Amino acid sequence: MYFVERNVSSCLRFSFSSQINDDWPGYSLDLFSYPAHYSGDIDCVIIPHGVIMDRTERLARNIMDDLGDHDIVVLCVLKGGYQFCADLVDRIKALSRNSDRTIPMRVHFIRLKSYLNDQSTEDLHILGAEDLSFLAGKNVLIVEAIVGTGKTMKTLLKHVEAFRPKMIKVAGLLVKRVPHNSACLPDYVGFEIPDRFVVGYALDYNEYFRDLNHICVISESGKMKYKI
Ligand code: HPA
Ligand code: MG
Repeated sequence: MYFVERNVSSCLRFSFSSQINDDWPGYSLDLFSYPAHYSGDIDCVIIPHGVIMDRTERLARNIMDDLGDHDIVVLCVLKGGYQFCADLVDRIKALSRNSDRTIPMRVHFIRLKSYLNDQSTEDLHILGAEDLSFLAGKNVLIVEAIVGTGKTMKTLLKHVEAFRPKMIKVAGLLVKRVPHNSACLPDYVGFEIPDRFVVGYALDYNEYFRDLNHICVISESGKMKYKI
């Protein structure tokens, strides 16, 4: 992704960034294929699947550069994180296969639930995280699909820290530019996106849209159709 800046002499300057600006209209749905059962339920494609994969490959390399000399325990945050985690672990494995530096990796799954419709509720449930004593002294990589205000991340970090890992790093595919971001940002960020409700690539709206490959903006009629 790139955005254009105009400096004082009015020359165009391009800065490369994985930031998606608020005025980015997205790609028309006509440019890509997607399941016909979601026709009318999404407005646009904000990040095509291929771009997610390419960015994930680079994140894997950055993670290997930083953590590649030690065993890693990957903590996959379900449900939204399953696809990103699977693809990220896959890329880390590929790097590990093709280099002298190889890291043993364990993968553990925890589940967080706090959203109803497109709203975060105060109720954060952490499931599968009751006994994380095996994290003691380990390098932990938390893998999340999306970080909004950072409140969930903060709660989770506090919970994980209590089990005394050697190091904790966080990989987040998406960081949303929300008004009250608590500055709890992931160490590895795929894309920074506008404050809009997105679905696809395992991100859901009331459990729908996980079966969509691209990251898309849900339409108002889509929200109405799947509201509970
Ligand atoms: N989409 C899906 N799940 C989410 C989002 C979103 O935009 N924000 C927080 N959880
Ligand atoms: Mg969800």
